[in-house]
Amino acid sequence: MSDARRLFITTPIYYASGEPHIGHAYATILADLIARFGRQTGADVFFLTGTDEHGQKIQEEAELRGIKPIELCDTMATAFSKAWETLEISHNRFIRTTEPEHIAVVTAFLQRLWDRDQIYDGVYSGWYCVSDERYWTDKDLGPGGTCSICSQKVTHVEEKNYFFKMSNYQDALVQHIEDNPDWIIPEIRRNEVLGFLRQPLADLSISRPRSRVSWGIPLPFDEDHVAYVWVDALINYLTASGAINPEAPPSEQGFEDVSDSWWPCDLHLIGKDILTNHAVYWPTLLMGAGLPVQRQILSHGWWIVGDTKMSKSLGNVVDPLALREDFGTDAVRWYLLREMPTGSDASFTPERFMTRYNELSNVLGNLVSRSISMVSKYRDGIVPTSQDDGLSSEITQALASNHEAMASYRIHEALSASMDLARAANVYVEDRQPWTQAKDPNAAQELDETLATLVRVLCVICALLEPVAPGKMAELGLRLGLDTLPSLETSLTVNLAGNRLEVSDPLFPRIEPSWAGDLG
Ligand code: MSP
Repeated sequence: MSDARRLFITTPIYYASGEPHIGHAYATILADLIARFGRQTGADVFFLTGTDEHGQKIQEEAELRGIKPIELCDTMATAFSKAWETLEISHNRFIRTTEPEHIAVVTAFLQRLWDRDQIYDGVYSGWYCVSDERYWTDKDLGPGGTCSICSQKVTHVEEKNYFFKMSNYQDALVQHIEDNPDWIIPEIRRNEVLGFLRQPLADLSISRPRSRVSWGIPLPFDEDHVAYVWVDALINYLTASGAINPEAPPSEQGFEDVSDSWWPCDLHLIGKDILTNHAVYWPTLLMGAGLPVQRQILSHGWWIVGDTKMSKSLGNVVDPLALREDFGTDAVRWYLLREMPTGSDASFTPERFMTRYNELSNVLGNLVSRSISMVSKYRDGIVPTSQDDGLSSEITQALASNHEAMASYRIHEALSASMDLARAANVYVEDRQPWTQAKDPNAAQELDETLATLVRVLCVICALLEPVAPGKMAELGLRLGLDTLPSLETSLTVNLAGNRLEVSDPLFPRIEPSWAGDLG
């Protein structure tokens, strides 16, 4: 992450056709960690998420349920908002693409492209996948003529469409990617996009006839057509940035100067399946409108079970989101972010979940319990003053490793560095043997140093792990007698001496889930 003092970070906006699942949760928790880390390091953060509410997929799902599309969207927008609340997501804005403000910005954006001669009409003939809302040519279809992403049936369409002159921007886009090696991370995804751009880039269909898809935003220059849902959806980032004022006359809408807004976005966080949409369609559309492109794209992998992308709970597999009920929100957040190397795929297994939970419980939870109970037992619960600090180099090392890993979004490594500090502190306890120091009247100073060091480490861990475990770290902060949570910077200088510590229940209690017996 750059040290810029501002961070506009986005998740994809999720289709309002179904309930939140692990894929959505992962992306949103990942964005939340980055947003929280940004705030801790003093950045001005604008964290955006929301729901994608137009298009054929929503229209068909609503028909199937016998309700109006907007009723389905209202239900799902509420479901997503609730899910994010229970997962402690700290977004600043939840956008819905059916909001009047967004509809007006999409309309202004399309009008702008039209006025700049970036759009023409033609006939589209090819395949369409409703589930992924995307076109396929014959050669790009998957096995048996299915969608290459979701393997579902595709339908043949031949219809009038409006096209955006995307091909005009191929060279500029390749140049941009080459000039900015970190624009798409990880590198494997950057190479994928560059590979894709080695073929001639086609123009982009940006509309649907209203006769087929009625649930969309009408084109300002032809009311018989609605905007292609992906164009509509991508523009959400611009709407939320506040750059465009669609009420103003065209020359004053903000397309010429975005400096007074959050645009350009600092980081789009997306899954690898929607890379082309974000790394090709979106920047070229922005170029077409004469706007700066987003600053960076971080593409993450998939949670898989066997070879299959995991979405809703799969048969008798344990639903990771349901694990919240037994283990709490922070344990699920920890597992999802600690287990998946950022950018790669990871397999969800209950065994790995337990391994990661036990790390919280046995390493960190144990450190918290033993440190606080020793302060209570040997110093009446009051943190002693100490002239010397133990574990200084381990603390410095943990902070440096965390910083370095976060700078390139290797989140799993940043978390592992923090857990290593807790491990080192447990080893320190064994080495120093405070129970022996307590028996020796000449070792009072050494015992003070041991206890003060442990409390200091807990304070640093509190800051380090707040982005992943906000609830538990707030609780730890209280147990350490802190009024406000330390930040990464202040955790080193907080004066803890004299604080009264409270012994209480384990922070991460041992849990035997109902399914543990099946693990063998
Ligand atoms: N509505 C579009 C995005 C528009 S953004 C302008 C969309 N929505 S979605 O509901 O399908 O959510 C997709 C996001 O969830 C993608 O980033 C996708 O990678 C992610 N995931 C869905 N299943 C997943 C896993 N099993 N694992 C990790 N993330 C995956 O696409």
